[in-house]
Amino acid sequence: MSRRRRIYEGKAKVIYEGTEPGTLVQYFKDDSSHDASGDIATITGKGVLNNRISEHLMTRLAEIGVPTHLVRRLNMREQLIREVEIIPVQVVVRNIVAGSLAKRLGMEEGTALPRSIVEYYYKSDELGGPMISEEHITAFGWAMPQELDDMLSMALRVNDFLSGLFYGVGIRLVDFQLEFGRLWQGEELRIVLADEISPDSCRLWDLETDERLDRDRARLSMSEAAEAYQEVARRLGILPQSDVVDMHGRSHAS
Ligand code: TMP
Repeated sequence: MSRRRRIYEGKAKVIYEGTEPGTLVQYFKDDSSHDASGDIATITGKGVLNNRISEHLMTRLAEIGVPTHLVRRLNMREQLIREVEIIPVQVVVRNIVAGSLAKRLGMEEGTALPRSIVEYYYKSDELGGPMISEEHITAFGWAMPQELDDMLSMALRVNDFLSGLFYGVGIRLVDFQLEFGRLWQGEELRIVLADEISPDSCRLWDLETDERLDRDRARLSMSEAAEAYQEVARRLGILPQSDVVDMHGRSHAS
């Protein structure tokens, strides 16, 4: 692990000071808080896979003009990212009823939504990430109206693009969560995509079987969850067909 100064440690990632001014290093851990009991569990190789998957998706998004915090992947578990001021609002986009939407409104999981639904959650672990409205966001100054507009249009663009990208590899993008940050470029302030996009932050179901290929699989077992993350990477063409990732992040043919 890195000897750099640690700035922040979350459930699944550690942030270190960067190697260049205005940058940070994002380290992906194997820890997951999404096992059956809600306790921290370890999905072997998850950090390595999420690093690769998130790099792949953010790079594809940058190619179509969606600005992101990613500078480049440094190694198996680390990315160099731009230092941004994180907006304390998590944006969730839903295409199919699942998770908390199914629970809250008593709807059946798997029902296609008549149109994509965007929800906002206040980024606070202490408060359990409560759902909020646009009114809360602007009234409390968490984001300016123009910033919120940018976040909404970027989230819908990301949804369109990633839905197509995943559909092409036989995966339904059920829902996902995004975080955004403010990036100063000279005098100009830009809103960019931050955090990660991976099976930790998306619900991904097999197009034909509805098999869960995301963190919901952790409800079954950690090894099944690891298989699901590997399957997503394989389908995206990041892992060769027969490769597995071992606990140290080395990939080798099985
Ligand atoms: P939810 O159905 O539990 O509200 O989750 C919606 C989406 O947001 C799902 O794809 C998982 C993602 N998500 C996160 O990435 N982090 C979180 O802390 C939560 C609650 C959800």
